[in-house]
Amino acid sequence: MSNILLVGNGAREHAMAEAISRSGQNPFLFSFMKANNPGIASLSEISKLGSYSDLSAITGFARDNKIDFAVIGPEDPLNNGVVDALIQYGIASIGPEKSLARLETSKAFTRNLVNKYNIPGNPKFKVYTTPDGLEAFLDQLDGVVLKPDGLTGGKGVLVQGDHFNSKDEALKLCRQILKERSSVIVEEKFDGEEFSLQCLCDGKTVVGTPLVQDHKRRFDGDQGPNTGGMGSYSMPDHLMPFLKDSDVEEGLEITRQVAAALLKETGKPYKGVMYGGFIATKNGVKLLEYNARFGDPEAMNILPLLKTDFVDICKHIVNGTLDTLKIEFDQKATVCKYVVPKGYGLPADHPDAASSRAKIEVGDVGKARLYYSSVDKKEDGLYLSSSRAIGIVGIADTLEEARNIAVGGVKAIKGPVAYREDIGTRELIQKRINHMNKIRIKQPFNA
Ligand code: GLY
Repeated sequence: MSNILLVGNGAREHAMAEAISRSGQNPFLFSFMKANNPGIASLSEISKLGSYSDLSAITGFARDNKIDFAVIGPEDPLNNGVVDALIQYGIASIGPEKSLARLETSKAFTRNLVNKYNIPGNPKFKVYTTPDGLEAFLDQLDGVVLKPDGLTGGKGVLVQGDHFNSKDEALKLCRQILKERSSVIVEEKFDGEEFSLQCLCDGKTVVGTPLVQDHKRRFDGDQGPNTGGMGSYSMPDHLMPFLKDSDVEEGLEITRQVAAALLKETGKPYKGVMYGGFIATKNGVKLLEYNARFGDPEAMNILPLLKTDFVDICKHIVNGTLDTLKIEFDQKATVCKYVVPKGYGLPADHPDAASSRAKIEVGDVGKARLYYSSVDKKEDGLYLSSSRAIGIVGIADTLEEARNIAVGGVKAIKGPVAYREDIGTRELIQKRINHMNKIRIKQPFNA
């Protein structure tokens, strides 16, 4: 039997806690959370509250409870070096050491690594520490994306057309970013459809999991501000309806090459999740970014589908033997919808902003799975915070059924909440297919 430490307190970690608890190995789960997640707490032997920067609190909790290995959910503790700290006490983790977590925490590191090892997928890009030469490079790009280096909570990327329009504005924004950050990455903007490919890696072997598409915009029809993700879907064949098989293979091959490059570059095996945010374009698959963890919401799409014991997977990652394990997922569709406060993502002076901190009631979600995120459990009930509150997941043989289950579940959450109706609908997916078809038709004959 194993004692497993889970670090994290979101819906992603609730899904991870559930996958651990489902294990036939009957592990004991211990959780370290920065805010009390009632779902994770109910699955844990002991849960402790603390800051993700308090590494001695995390290692102390791990040692007190004779932890065999840790599973790290979010990027913040990875960036703080929690895996390195646990290694000092002989405790392995599913999650990379700090130098390897730069895959997510430094976009400049990853772009330079991909270039140095001649791995395909990079856009035209340059990293700037001063504005010198910026103007000339901006002139070479048709569309521009600006990325401050370092963690930005998923909200730092600035895209031409969404956040700014002209070259002058881009220059101004770069200057602003450089006042706050050591560097800014200026990249070519791609046209295409995005998908999430979450891979498991033991340092040598990379295993892909079912593809997922997240929906960043706050409102139906991909309108409104970007959010941490309003929901996601996956298909029974584990592919995306707008992708070719070769697109998936390209994403996997990029990830395999990046894992090998990380080993060469740092001398350390990457053990954990390499979550590639990819975009299918007219020129094949391109890399938008890597995250050093499961996606949120994407973890809620794939972990409930696991047929293989998650604890077994973790042990094979720790031991570097993923190549000997067959990892299988149910051939089902999933639709995840985040229930958020009505004011989520809206300016503080918006009339709906007051929905934060309101009380909610959770009724019967039927066949849907429920994963708590940012909720505050008080003596008299459950309260919203300002962030995403509850992930509701429908799982079924078809996408339609999965969506209906998710919608039924969402309707059981009463209070000043909102969700995206359109996630998982055929109409929205057809829009993605049409977009991709249009892009591919523009492909030159010799491509
Ligand atoms: N799905 C977005 C993220 O996990 O960063």
